[in-house]
Amino acid sequence: AVERTFSIIKPDAVAKNVIGEIYSRFEKAGLKVIATRMVHLSRKDAEGFYAVHKSRPFFKDLVDFMISGPVVLSVLEGENAILKNRELMGATDPKKADKGTIRADFAQSIDANAVHGSDAPETAKGEIAYFFPEHQVYSR
Ligand code: CMP
Repeated sequence: AVERTFSIIKPDAVAKNVIGEIYSRFEKAGLKVIATRMVHLSRKDAEGFYAVHKSRPFFKDLVDFMISGPVVLSVLEGENAILKNRELMGATDPKKADKGTIRADFAQSIDANAVHGSDAPETAKGEIAYFFPEHQVYSR
């Protein structure tokens, strides 16, 4: 089915100047960018977005990293978009990511891991709504 997923190009990948290379991988895989915006997240934004991880030991480092520089927020649409994006990204820990994935190619560490992508339809819906009102999502 055609799905939507939420993507973040994280501060490390923006700093590395690989926004276009990452978008290119999405597009070549048949995912369309149907909403996008660059933003330097506030601590409140980042804490709210990652609220499910609030009690995890890595929460503070994760939030500190995510507000260390601008990020690119996007909504991607396409057939099986959630799983497709997860395959393109590779494992959360870049050391464990398969060759040729975004994280294997561009990421340094589990925090500076280049990209975020939704893990399921319900989380995709919530993550999209957290940053993009429906009228700023250009389904096509
Ligand atoms: P992301 O997909 O953005 O979701 C939560 C983030 O927490 C994850 O990518 C990692 O960058 C970061 N993180 C740091 N440590 C861990 C960990 N042990 N397990 C999962 N995520 C972690």
